Amino acid sequence: MRLAIGSDHAGLDLKHTITLLLDELKVPYEDVGTFSPASVDYPDYAEAVSRAVVEGRADRGILVCGTGIGMAIAANKIAGIRAAVVWDETSARLSRAHNDANVMTIGGRTTPIDRVPAIISAFLLTDYAGGRHDRRLDKIARLERKDS
Ligand code: RB5
Repeated sequence: MRLAIGSDHAGLDLKHTITLLLDELKVPYEDVGTFSPASVDYPDYAEAVSRAVVEGRADRGILVCGTGIGMAIAANKIAGIRAAVVWDETSARLSRAHNDANVMTIGGRTTPIDRVPAIISAFLLTDYAGGRHDRRLDKIARLERKDS
């Protein structure tokens, strides 16, 4: 499992926390930035991480902004990305099991820090459940094709 991770300025501290966790877990990742607290635009980092995933340079992506919301909106514009805002272990686990999320987005200003290890483990370790969810993901893929 190789990850791509990115944040804007509002997600910088939480991105740092997550990369420390990934180092501990020995999960390789490419950090696309941002690397300073200067104000930047989250769609640029959403695109960099999402392209790494759809081009196969990363298996999954993690994006951090103030709320996780802007990153999810931007990442979901890239064909093939299923980005989910997660805020606790349950949302992270179900984003994988039900939605086969290939990108998780999370809020640096909204997520209690003590939840982060469980969120990251759930996102990394939960397999997609398939079954009835295949039909729904097929419908999402069809929406993407209809609209391109
Ligand atoms: C940046 O101030 C903030 O708007 C951004 O990080 C994010 O929360 C957008 O969804």
